[in-house]
Amino acid sequence: MVGWEEKGHGVLGYRVMDDTGELVYDGSVAFAGTGPFDVVPTIIEGPFVNQVTEHGAVITYTTSEPAITTLTCGPFAHTEKKKGIHHEIAITDLAADSSYDYAIVLGDQTVSYELSTAPAAGSRKPFTFSYASDSRSGQGGGERTIYGANAYIMKKIMALAKFKDVKFMQFSGDLIDGYLTDREAMQLQYANWKHAIQPFAHYFPVYVSMGNHESYMRFFWKDDTRSSILLNRWPYDDDSGEYLFAQNFSNPQNGPASEDGSEYDPNPDAVDFPSYDENVFHYTHDNVAVIVLNSDYWYAPTHRLIPKVSGGLHGYIMDNQLAWLDETVAMFEADENIDHVFVTQHTPCFPNGGHVGDDMWYRGNNQIRPYIAGKPVKKGIIERRDQILDILVNRSSKTRAILTGDEHNYNRLEIGPETEIYPEQYFTAKIELTRTIYQINNGAAGAPYYAQEETPWTPFVSGFTTQNALVFFHVDGKEIEVEVLNPDTLEEVDRFELTNSE
Ligand SMILES: [Fe+2]
Repeated sequence: MVGWEEKGHGVLGYRVMDDTGELVYDGSVAFAGTGPFDVVPTIIEGPFVNQVTEHGAVITYTTSEPAITTLTCGPFAHTEKKKGIHHEIAITDLAADSSYDYAIVLGDQTVSYELSTAPAAGSRKPFTFSYASDSRSGQGGGERTIYGANAYIMKKIMALAKFKDVKFMQFSGDLIDGYLTDREAMQLQYANWKHAIQPFAHYFPVYVSMGNHESYMRFFWKDDTRSSILLNRWPYDDDSGEYLFAQNFSNPQNGPASEDGSEYDPNPDAVDFPSYDENVFHYTHDNVAVIVLNSDYWYAPTHRLIPKVSGGLHGYIMDNQLAWLDETVAMFEADENIDHVFVTQHTPCFPNGGHVGDDMWYRGNNQIRPYIAGKPVKKGIIERRDQILDILVNRSSKTRAILTGDEHNYNRLEIGPETEIYPEQYFTAKIELTRTIYQINNGAAGAPYYAQEETPWTPFVSGFTTQNALVFFHVDGKEIEVEVLNPDTLEEVDRFELTNSE
């Protein structure tokens, strides 16, 4: 079919399965010759389109061994000067709102796909983007568990997104099973997730962010008991979860630096925290801005031991990140090309099923908080949630919704003046909300599902389902229609107008 006997080269697909029948890897390998054959450099991940702007995009791909490649796209052409495995090339000088073929040449192989640039900011042309999270391994074996990722549902999600012609997708955490101490195993899980989205992510960008399952850890036995202590791995600058995430994906580099320099920083002259590089950032498409937070930063999984060992808390946005959120929301408030702001973080402000014991609630216990160098930070988890709500609800007119995951279900919650947001017993200062926004939770991208639980805000929850789901935002100027489909069956799960209650 591919004529390898005449051409003398070709590419084979292959899979690795373990002795229990679990799929471990789904890959490809290029060969040269007509027999005997030589294995030759192969594009083994990608190409992926990332960071699409009005005038360019960043293309990433990985080769099986160090190689020099050439990338062409419209008037743009670039041949690498040095051999490399990870290829990341910024295409520039394209026209806005245009489609281009792009091609990568590696030895005898050429692959070719298409990308589209964004319209000029403020054009207010109708477009669609999509949202989901939580695609780690599901139940049932087969493609639902290609070591670390639910490739079955991710492929269906991506095919549906491509069919709907989304301009970008936001995917907010728990891409993989993670929680590993082995670096190569983390890399393998990321590779499997990327392979699942690859046939579709050749064409449009998928912006990803971190959840708790991106955790790459150090593990200790607690001396006096048989329990374990899990901490974010260090050294942070080249062996942390944050570092591996940045290495595997190509996100904008416009976030805060780290929590160094905060009032809790134990040593102003040393790097004491992981970087926010590529795990906290913002991007825009026409009149929409998306602000991506990391609520699992410097994450210490064994949260009950945090007062003893210190560490970041699941669900907590730390001080420097909060200050950056405040500045970034203000920047978009002042930007006349932006009509709608979406904020996304892995953990819900208001959990509804599966994580009522943590996220930004901890069953209403504000005492829970990160510790830094043995000392608790000043604001508890609920006070910090309230500071975020104050920024997004009371001091923003453009924030439409908070997009969350972690809980493996779809639902939407009205967050407004009538919503009960405190536990029965609460002795800390409360805030009043002055308008209504939505929390749209969609952790239904393939991880095992969670049922609904009772909370103070339950009367304001609607559409709760454990079906797999993909959320579409159809943006048309000032109007946004939300459509939610089951990517497996194509059933409609929910549909509503995202009105501005300003
Ligand atoms: Fe999670």
